[in-house]
Amino acid sequence: MAENTAELPARRVGRIKPCRLIRLEQHIDPRGSLSVIESGVTVDFPVRRVYYMHGQTQSSPPRGLHAHRTLEQLVIAVHGAFSITLDDGFQHATYRLDEPGAGLCIGPMVWRVLKDFDPDTVALVLASQHYEESDYYRDYDTFLHDARSLT
Ligand code: TYD
Repeated sequence: MAENTAELPARRVGRIKPCRLIRLEQHIDPRGSLSVIESGVTVDFPVRRVYYMHGQTQSSPPRGLHAHRTLEQLVIAVHGAFSITLDDGFQHATYRLDEPGAGLCIGPMVWRVLKDFDPDTVALVLASQHYEESDYYRDYDTFLHDARSLT
């Protein structure tokens, strides 16, 4: 069975590009499930980098605590579950990612905090750019100032 990529209802955050939860194309048969992500189809950015986070415990400090100037991402709980809070300087929304068939698209200028990881979670991230520290806001007040200055 093929399930087409579709946007799931959620509160929107992100003034440059609204973040959105999408259902991934999935092929489910007696052998199990296969999920598909394609540049230009699932996400409208080129996938230039893939990384994943794992080994978190329930007492681990939060991850993220940054925003990107231009980078876009698709974030997926390929195993387990975790929460992401998004903040565009005006609005917040928290998503619980808990299934491999859904992904959260996060646009530029959105502060994110990842926490409340279930044991053995693997958080997969597909990113539109190579790693570039100058694309990061790591200081919340600087981010807030710039995010609120966007016209
Ligand atoms: P960091 O950005 O702190 O992770 P997060 O904010 O998602 O919790 O990244 C942890 C370390 O890994 C940091 O030293 C930067 C490095 N890193 C890379 O070298 N390449 C990458 O693609 C990423 C995402 C991080």
